[in-house]
Amino acid sequence: MIVANASIGMPKHDVADLALAAKGKKRILWADQDMPVLTAIRERFEIEKPLAGLRMSACLHVTAETANLARTLKAGGADLLLIASNPLSTQDEVAASLVKDFGIGVAAIHGEDGMSYYKHVAMALEHQPHITMDDGADLVSAMVFIALDKLEKLGGNQKPVQDWASKFTSAQRKTLFEGVIGSMEETTTGVIRLRAMEKDGVLKFPVIAVNDAATKHLFDNRYGTGQSTLDGVIRATNTLLAGKKVVVSGYGYCGKGVASRARGMGSLVIVTEINPVAALEAAMDGFAVMTMAEAARVGDIFITVTGNKHILGAEHFPLMKTGAMVCNSGHFDIEIDLKALEAQCTEIIPDIRHEVEEYRMKSGKKIFVIGHGRLVNLAAAEGHPASVMDMSFATQALATEYCVKNQGKLSNSVHPVPVEVENYIATAKLASMGVSIDKMTADQVSYTTSWEHGT
Ligand code: ADE
Repeated sequence: MIVANASIGMPKHDVADLALAAKGKKRILWADQDMPVLTAIRERFEIEKPLAGLRMSACLHVTAETANLARTLKAGGADLLLIASNPLSTQDEVAASLVKDFGIGVAAIHGEDGMSYYKHVAMALEHQPHITMDDGADLVSAMVFIALDKLEKLGGNQKPVQDWASKFTSAQRKTLFEGVIGSMEETTTGVIRLRAMEKDGVLKFPVIAVNDAATKHLFDNRYGTGQSTLDGVIRATNTLLAGKKVVVSGYGYCGKGVASRARGMGSLVIVTEINPVAALEAAMDGFAVMTMAEAARVGDIFITVTGNKHILGAEHFPLMKTGAMVCNSGHFDIEIDLKALEAQCTEIIPDIRHEVEEYRMKSGKKIFVIGHGRLVNLAAAEGHPASVMDMSFATQALATEYCVKNQGKLSNSVHPVPVEVENYIATAKLASMGVSIDKMTADQVSYTTSWEHGT
């Protein structure tokens, strides 16, 4: 059921079914057990209220882990509206529980179409946020497109936001950013988009690159994407990974994670890359490295994690073996050219299994597409486990506090997360794991800080 406006006693919401709340609450509390760093921050926020009086709009995957971040931001005093950053990642029961049990506004429905997705973006902007939080920079991009009068760019020409945005006079559009203190960005893809905005001079408030914090990308991108991507492939297909040739495209932190986990499951892993240093690293890490034209002929399972478009394109599908499985774990659904594949097919059979479609090619070959080419870890599984999202979302919460504390002092550009925040999170996570580490002696401190010690 869709309720677009706030009903009595409820925050603003547009969710699938509030009756799912009880199931969602169990999921949220289950995840919370594995998020001790975020819990400690929530307890402090509850007392100190660093976000008091601030409206926040967050465009994130609406999962149990995100719910615990939302609870933390609310504990800090924020009036939060959460919308989905991907139509297939929303956990409807979690969305329902956030509204009903935790009093947090949510506009997100699993499987929503482009119109609904962008209606929710419009709701997030109508919330007039002081702070925004993005997973892929859709929210900030929408604001920039509206301010620059580039309405045709909004979500690939989506009507609801255009209709909504066209209500603004040009004078109002220019003031769209007024009152915005800053924004947080969760992903590599989003940070790249935001740096491009900064370069073009269209970024009108500071952004904190949460993705670039060591406590985010070293763990979330590598171990989170590594495990949850294979989890998605396995849940969708129940295929045996041992002995399979798994082609991983892209050897950034996400690709490294997927490749190492696939090797751990006994797969023969092939890496494709365009960056010579990353390709060399993959080769010296012991992976086969080749072009996609070569890999396409031998791969059993293809996983794209590049952040770029058409990694698997028209020229590759005819080379593939029948029964090849293809999926994507990069942020947007652009890495596999599904239109080109469709053009080579006589039939697409949906629901071969949950989140698996069979593309029957004119040659009679079958190619299986998992998760519609969208993030396979969230479409076919539950995304990264809570333990790793603990660090990512602790970084988000503390970056938000930093952004607010430094209101007016940060330039309208992309900023790193302060190293003190990274060290706090790593120390707290180690403590929660019962791990102690050594401290430098005074003599060692002197050795590492002076240039006067010789060999
Ligand atoms: N991105 C990847 N996994 C996620 C999760 N479990 N929750 C929110 N965002 C995610």
